[in-house]
Amino acid sequence: MKLFIDTANIDQIKEMYSLGIISGVTTNPTLCSKEGKDFKSSIAEIAAIVDGPISAEAISMTREGIIQEARELAAIAPNIVIKIPMMEEGLAATSVLSKEGIKVNMTLVFSVNQALLAAQVGAAYVSPFVGRLDDIGHSGIEILDNIVTIYDIYDIKTEIISASIRNPLHVVQSALAGAHIATVPYDILKAMVKHPLTDIGIERFLKDWKKLQETTSSIRK
Ligand code: G3P
Repeated sequence: MKLFIDTANIDQIKEMYSLGIISGVTTNPTLCSKEGKDFKSSIAEIAAIVDGPISAEAISMTREGIIQEARELAAIAPNIVIKIPMMEEGLAATSVLSKEGIKVNMTLVFSVNQALLAAQVGAAYVSPFVGRLDDIGHSGIEILDNIVTIYDIYDIKTEIISASIRNPLHVVQSALAGAHIATVPYDILKAMVKHPLTDIGIERFLKDWKKLQETTSSIRK
């Protein structure tokens, strides 16, 4: 399973990309509004930093509007993917855009049926929102798991992005379910690196190494 970062924050993207652990970025209007910068120039900046798919969301509510917005966003850089909400106008727009070779990430997906529809219109990616399903008392991971199973049965090429990840366990569960990608917020990527036994182990190794240096230097004297 590949990892993307779910943020529009340039510093967070640069930091995680420099570790070599992320291979794409997803943004949404909420994440972009947190940064308070011009949307198109932020997307261009992110696309120049990360050599991988960068999802930028279209906000029009009509198929014509979405198609126009998508064409403009896709022209910014070859790695731009257009995030389009799951709704009738979004499906119609995706159907047109995928035939043009513009990659679409169908977002705000909360059911297996919605994921099946995203596949019919040739979406390159589908984003089930795991955390938001949990928030309303459903099992986001169970729905993700069912989407993976059905896509496998029919050899559907649309890649599944496990989105709305709220904790490190969601990442593990997404991988076990067979998601192609998990898009993970910065803090959770940081938490994935850490383990108390790793910290204790590093501290002990450094202490023992120092002890060895002291012993060998006193022998030399
Ligand atoms: O980018 C879409 C998704 O990951 C949003 O997550 O935490 O706002 O439900 P959240």
